[in-house]
Parts: sequence; structure tokens; C-alpha cells
Amino acid sequence: MSQSQISISLGDVLVVDDAPANLRVLSTMLTNRGFKVRKALTGSNAIASARAIPPDIILLDIRLSELNGYEICQILKSDPTTSQIPIIFISALNDVSDKLKAFESGGIDYITKPFHEAEVLARVETQLRLQKLQRQLIQRNSELRRSNRELEQFAYAVSHDLQQPLQSMVGFAKLLLMKHQADLDRTSYEYLQNIVQSGDRAYQLIQNLLSYAQVEQQNSGFGLVDCNQLLKQVLDNLQAAISEKNANITVATLPTVIANESQLSQLFQNLLTNAIKFVPPERSPLVHVMASKQNHEWLFEIHDNGIGIGSQNFESIFGMFQRLHTEAEYPGTGIGLAICQKVVELHNGRIWVESQPDAGSTFYFTLSAALDMDFSERGVANPNLGQG
Ligand SMILES: Nc1ncnc2c1ncn2[C@@H]1O[C@H](COP(=O)(O)OP(=O)(O)OP(=O)(O)O)[C@@H](O)[C@H]1O
Ligand SMILES: [Mg+2]
Repeated sequence: MSQSQISISLGDVLVVDDAPANLRVLSTMLTNRGFKVRKALTGSNAIASARAIPPDIILLDIRLSELNGYEICQILKSDPTTSQIPIIFISALNDVSDKLKAFESGGIDYITKPFHEAEVLARVETQLRLQKLQRQLIQRNSELRRSNRELEQFAYAVSHDLQQPLQSMVGFAKLLLMKHQADLDRTSYEYLQNIVQSGDRAYQLIQNLLSYAQVEQQNSGFGLVDCNQLLKQVLDNLQAAISEKNANITVATLPTVIANESQLSQLFQNLLTNAIKFVPPERSPLVHVMASKQNHEWLFEIHDNGIGIGSQNFESIFGMFQRLHTEAEYPGTGIGLAICQKVVELHNGRIWVESQPDAGSTFYFTLSAALDMDFSERGVANPNLGQG
């Protein structure tokens, strides 16, 4: 009694039953517990009431005149204003098939009549608690996404604005080196060289940060991408590094996928750059690229004969600025794989590595099954059919 005097309700419950006696019992029980209760004797009343002011939860009888409980549940679940309301069926039907039908039509729980007060209260409270947690999770996720976007915009703005002054500083230092080399003593010359080297490195870092922040903006959109063509372009871009390291890169026949072409190109370029770069100077890089169809996914593999990676670093290397070597051993900024991870996530795929120190590495990534399904939805002939 004292709880009903305090006007804070534990939740708003809509009880639907065509037997007034049942409604009364349930209503009294829930009100005493501290819930605010609304009652409906028919399906149409229940639907109107739920649409007008959506309750936190609905207790729904199955055997009703005009619309039955399953039908009411389906109508509420297909309406965006009421689709999120958890529905607990409460019924004398005790068959497994009745219960299954209740879950299939969108119910979240099932209580059999004659019910026990404690059970009804426990189930209602559990569902309300779960719903509250789910709402919190959805809100946190959207806050996280927003703050991530803000961070990316910030990184983009900062890197973008830093570019120009940095270029001037490095440019003038290079001019000094070129024009006044003869006037400089050895120490000043070395200092200037350090300025130029650090400036170049900072410039590279800024460029890579910009690429990272821009991955999502690179919206050439999703379309058909022939990975064989894409790889040719990527290898052309890497020609200087390939010749310098005397690398041998072989590529098996690759599929055509639906993807964002510029993002996919960046993904291959970063993985191949690494495969060529992280090879000891006394070895020539040997790299092989292949793809196979695994269930409804394309699995891409990039094999190298490089220095390998210890299993303790398999996950960390995909984080920002994560590097396992000094700049002198292997130059880089530690952003390449973070970009790869982001690209693959934007394609609903996964990326990971298998490796052993000094036994080469294989980087894997998948492109999701939805890509193949999209072919029919977009009315595009599937060029992968018949490839086996
Ligand atoms: N194929 C590989 N073989 C061995 N180690 C690798 C390979 N690819 C990546 N790594 C390790 O993972 C780290 C992170 O790779 P990532 O591509 O993000 O950075 P990076 O190549 O050092 O710099 P960036 O790509 O930004 O120029 C590398 O520094 C290296 O230690
Ligand atoms: Mg890299």
C-alpha cells in the first residue's frame, strides 16, 4: 500500500485478457507491487492503447475473441511505435507448439495459467531489467560512435592544418642545406639534417593520419570491383618498392566483389607494403595473394616470407601507432593496419594474422556474404557464378 502512495511507478504494464476476473487479479497484483497498470479486454483496444502511449511491457492472453494473442503480437511487432515493447504471453495453452508459436510471433516470454504471483512478478521484472540494460547499451553505443566520429574529425582538422606549416619548415631547412652547405660546420649540418629527417617523418605521420580519418569519407560508393584489376593497379603503385627490394609477388585468380574500390585498394596496398617491407635485408620478399570461397564469404590471404610476428602481438598490431620495431630497423608510422582494420569493418568482414617469428606471416581478411546476395538485389549479373 505504501508503495502506491509514492507516485514513482516501477513501470507501465498493459494487461490484455478477455476475462475480467483474470484482469482484476493481475492488475491488483501488479499495482500492489508498484506498477502502473492499464487493462484491455479486446485486441483492438490493446493495440489502440499501446499505440497511443506505448507501455513498458505487455502481458497478453492468447485465446481472445476477434484477434488472438499471436495476431495482436504480430501487429504490434510490425509497427515501429510498438515494435520494441516486450510482450509476455500468459495462457492456459500448455503445448510446446503453442509456446513456440508465441515466440515465433515475437513474444519474449511465456507464462502458463494458472499462474503464480511470484512467477509473474519475477518474469515481468526480469524483462523490464533486460530492456533497461538494452536501452543503455544502445545509447552507449551511439554515444561511442558519435565521440569516435568527433575524434576522427578532430584528427582530420589537426592533421590537415599542420600539413602546411610543417611543409614550410622542412622546405626552408632543405633550402638551407642546399644553398649554405659550404658555410655550415659539421655539427650545424648534422642538426639541419636531423630537422629534415624528423620533419619528413612527421609529414608522413600526418599523411597517414589523414588517410585514417578519411577512410569513411572516401566514398566512391560500393560497386562491382574486379580484384584482379585492382591488384594490377596496386602493384603498379608499389613498383618502386618492389624493384628496390627485388620482390617476387604472385597473384592467383581473384574474385569480383561488391566493395568500395578506393578502400579495398588501400587495404591491399597496406598489406602488400608490409609484406615487402618486413623482410630481412638479406632475403628477397616472396609474396603470394589468393582468395577462396568459404561458405558465403570470400577469404583473402596474403602470404609473405618475412620476419614474422609473435602470437602475443597478433591483435595489438591492428591498433593505432602499434609498431614492433625501431624506425631505423623498419620505417613506418603504425597506422597502416589500423586503416586495414577499419576498411574491413566497413565491409562487414574480419581481418587477422597467423605467423611465427622468422617464419613469415599470412594476413587474412573476409568480405561478407551480403556482398554476393547484393548482386541479385541490385539486378547485376553475378560474375562469380560458375567459378566453382
Ligand atoms: N607482414 C608483416 N610481417 C611482419 N610484421 C608485420 C607485418 N605487417 C605488420 N607487421 C608489424 O605490425 C606493425 C604494424 O603494422 P602497420 O602497417 O600498422 O605499421 P607500419 O608498417 O609500421 O607503418 P605504416 O603502415 O603506418 O607506414 C608493424 O610495425 C610491424 O611490426
Ligand atoms: Mg604498414
